[in-house]
Amino acid sequence: MKPFKFFLITDTHYFSEKLPAFGEAYKDFMDGEQKCFAETAAINKAAAEYLSKSEEADTILIAGDLSFNGEKQSHLDFIELLKGLKSAGKKIYVITAGHDCNEHPFAFDDTGRLSPEGTKREELYDLYYEFGFSEALSVHKDSLSYVAEISEDVWLFALNNDGDGEYHHTYTASQREWIDEMLRKGAELGKMMFVMNHYPLLPACPVFGLIGDAVMPGADEMTTVFADGGAHLGFTGHMHNQSIKCKTTEKGNKFWDVCTGSLIGCPAFMRLVEIKDKSTVQIKSIPVPDFKWDKGGLSHEEYLQRQFDMMIGNYLDYMANDPERLMRKLRLPDKAVLKKLLSKLGGFVQKATLGSVCKKFLVKCPDSVKDRPLKGFLLEIVRNIFTGNAPYTEDTDEYKAFMGVISRFSPVLAIVKKKVKVKGKPLDVKQMLHECLGNYGVDEYNTTLTLE
Ligand SMILES: [Fe+2]
Ligand SMILES: [Fe+2]
Repeated sequence: MKPFKFFLITDTHYFSEKLPAFGEAYKDFMDGEQKCFAETAAINKAAAEYLSKSEEADTILIAGDLSFNGEKQSHLDFIELLKGLKSAGKKIYVITAGHDCNEHPFAFDDTGRLSPEGTKREELYDLYYEFGFSEALSVHKDSLSYVAEISEDVWLFALNNDGDGEYHHTYTASQREWIDEMLRKGAELGKMMFVMNHYPLLPACPVFGLIGDAVMPGADEMTTVFADGGAHLGFTGHMHNQSIKCKTTEKGNKFWDVCTGSLIGCPAFMRLVEIKDKSTVQIKSIPVPDFKWDKGGLSHEEYLQRQFDMMIGNYLDYMANDPERLMRKLRLPDKAVLKKLLSKLGGFVQKATLGSVCKKFLVKCPDSVKDRPLKGFLLEIVRNIFTGNAPYTEDTDEYKAFMGVISRFSPVLAIVKKKVKVKGKPLDVKQMLHECLGNYGVDEYNTTLTLE
């Protein structure tokens, strides 16, 4: 096979400029949002301009959540943007996802929440026909999935994982049979095969393994099917985070999941991928370009990060000052005891430093981190989980202080590990935090993967 390059972007969440996004209800909604909203058209246009001018690659893959929340007008305008890329000589392959079909999307103006026209799932095939389906070797229309030969001897498995669209966000039985058949055909013909799927197929960190839809249901089985069937690589999105993770099957085959951040929220990156040969793939990450918007003097990266930090910071502030609001936002049960606990914990987080926490639990705190406010540290840990390449490995002072305190709870955590199972696996809180603080795997931005 010839070496082949393509761009991959995901979670473009385009929101039409013809729809309103302002007012008090809009501000309230944005309090808990990681992604930008009113700005998405400007960001998408800047990215499209970059991609249309780039001579690095002529193929662009988009891994779902194309529209903000299924507004018909957003799809129509996004498709115009894709048509522009096509006329600039680019080939585009998309999959759709949960945010692309919604019969009750929303917009905001001074009067409050509005209900613009939505999009039915059945409409997506025709809307996006010329961006993947029309070029496909094989289409599984019910599941909006297809396989296309995107370069000589390179097969893209573009898989929608909406399942029944409501409760089961995974492959349907007939889709699964079709995937098995296409894997068999591709392997027989000696094709280089890889997957594009909206939901992650491997958890970015162990905490994501516990969250409902942070990994596709059934992904453990499917990654084995892919790897043992000859597809060793998947590109995913949905969690709006940057990660590159690997698993090895019992038969000794590898599967790599390259999850990419959303185009319109921190961390906002695009991937440039080069398939050098059947078993060597180079991944590069390119920051989303600057976009036309009044960013109040901030750089576009600072502007996007401010939205992310505001979301986490607000949650921590609500915990202390308005626990009921936090409980509403996180859909927690309305229990007085929970409200009291959150408020107490929130108050502590607001005032503590790493040094004061260590002192409380009789742990030696390295001087370099003892004045760090706990709130800022927790916010950074959460942000690092999403941005990838988490920096606090065992040799860092931050690790020593934080895990020193956690170790004080070892006896309780040992009982939890023995008695509590989540998704069939023992809940190992210490190991989970260890892996969230620092990345011990490959560089999650720029790396060369060995697939076989
Ligand atoms: Fe998304
Ligand atoms: Fe999603």
